[in-house]
This record gives sequence, C-alpha cells and structure tokens, in this order.
Amino acid sequence: MALDKYMKIRLNSLPPATAIPFDLFVSIGGRHVHYLRAGDKIAAQKIVKFESKAPESFYILAAERINYQKFVHDGLLSDKLDIKQKALILRESTMVLVEELFERPDIETAMSDARQVVEDFVAFMDSDASAMANLIGLSSHDFYTYNHSLDVSVYSLGLGTAVGFKGAELRELGLGGLFHDIGKRYIPLDIICKNGPLDDLEWGEMQKHPQYGLMILNEHQTPENIKACAFEHHESMAGNGYPQQLTAAEIHPMARVVSVADTYDALTTKRSYNDPMKPTDAIALMSGKLNGRYDPEVMRALLAIFEKLKNAA
Ligand SMILES: [Fe+2]
Ligand SMILES: [Fe+2]
Repeated sequence: MALDKYMKIRLNSLPPATAIPFDLFVSIGGRHVHYLRAGDKIAAQKIVKFESKAPESFYILAAERINYQKFVHDGLLSDKLDIKQKALILRESTMVLVEELFERPDIETAMSDARQVVEDFVAFMDSDASAMANLIGLSSHDFYTYNHSLDVSVYSLGLGTAVGFKGAELRELGLGGLFHDIGKRYIPLDIICKNGPLDDLEWGEMQKHPQYGLMILNEHQTPENIKACAFEHHESMAGNGYPQQLTAAEIHPMARVVSVADTYDALTTKRSYNDPMKPTDAIALMSGKLNGRYDPEVMRALLAIFEKLKNAA
C-alpha cells in the first residue's frame, strides 16, 4: 500500500506563539494547500478553540512525523507553558494517534508511537498533582471511542499507580488502557454509532470486540499484559462477564484496573441516548448494584482518585 504523503494533526497540539518548524497544510476540495510556511508562528486568533465542535484538521508532510513529535515533546518540557496548555497539547497530539489506531488500515506506526505517548502521560502525571485532573478535565465528555480510549489510559495509569504498578508494568498498563477497545475496529460503524440501545443481535456483535482486540494485538507482537487488558476488560470478578466468564482469581490484574477505568469513564461520559452520571453516582452504582464485579482494591483506589480530582477541580 502506498504511504500517505500527509499526516493529519490538530492545531491545538502545537505550542502557541512558537515558530512551527515544518510546513502546515489544510485540505481544500481534496487537495492539500499551504497554510503556514516552516518558521512562521500561528496568529493567536487563528488557534481553533478546543470547545469548537469540529476542530479543523491540519496536515503536515508524513515525512515530518518525527519532527512534529519532537516539537510537541519539547513543548511539554517547556517552562513557558502552564499545566493547562501542556495538558491540551498532550491530549490533542494523542487524539491524532488514537484516530490513526481506529481509522487507518496500517496501525503499526501508531502502535509503536503510543509507547512514547504513555511515557509522556506518566512524566506529565508525575510532574504535578493536578496533572490528571487537567488531562481529564479537557475531555469533551462525549463518548467517542477516541476520547474514551485516552481517558481509560489516563485513569488506568492513575489507578494502577495507586494499587502499586510501576516502571515497565505501569507503562504496559497505560498502553493496555489505550488499546483496550482496539477490537472495535472490526465492529460495524452503524453499531458503534447507534443512536440508542443495541438490540440482541447488535449486542452479540459488539461483545466480540475483546476477541477482535486480541486478534489485532496478536498480529503486532504485543506483550501479554497488554493483550490481557484488551481481551479481559469486560470480565467480571463475579464470573458473569464476557467473553470467557472468568472468575476473580483468573482475571489478569491489569485487566481488573482497565475494567474499573472503562466502566467509570463510560458511566460518567455523555452518550447520544443518555446523560452522564455524576462521579459520585457512578461510584455508588459500581460499589452498590454492580458490587462484586470489580476488584475491591481498585475500587478503593478509584474512590481515592475521585476525592483527589474533586479537590483539584
Ligand atoms: Fe470494551
Ligand atoms: Fe471501553
């Protein structure tokens, strides 16, 4: 397959008021035209507001991918930017990667770039007590698989740290969160985007995404820990999950973390057919009516993190 000449990026992933070291393009009528020459700055009034419903897409030459990533990375290390600006840059640059994971036929590059993203998440979250609140606070709170994957990764890193994961294992957990729903690549879009609850047939199809996820990750020589997050994140400690109906001790410790992150994010995020729950209500539901499904130690960590987020807000 021919390699794409251009790579999509988001304008808000570029540090503001800084000379951009590569050409920027916009797509007009299917053609890529110059928007900004390398070395120019973007005028402040042209920065697309994050709140904008449909942020315009910008492009760089695909050959500039590494330069772009370095530029974003340097922005994250800069002391000229505050934590909110850095959170926005990190989130917006990651969203491009997550889009690639779900939309492009070739995901090899995005999968290997994801390692650096998780590294940046870990460094960012270590840098400031309010970092996680800032990263999550920027979520649009609409349930798009992209936003969701990113949030589950961030929550998994927070929960994972609280229950004792560190080093290489913590990074794998972050990747497990980012990739947990990657099997949805194979679920028809009309099921993913359905404006209402799924019928039995559609639900049966949707429940195949953990197997599809395992298949995809198997094709890309992924560590076992990460595969377990994709394959087991819908298992339940009570034994009534899917696809394998594993019981408590059989569920991989990382999948238990991703499971809590996944449910909490899904409950507190707006979907087209129902309103988001308040964090307190989501936690009450998970430890009340859904009691027994989740690892109690991870639930305690969730409660602690929620308190921290509340105080940081
Ligand atoms: Fe899932
Ligand atoms: Fe999910």
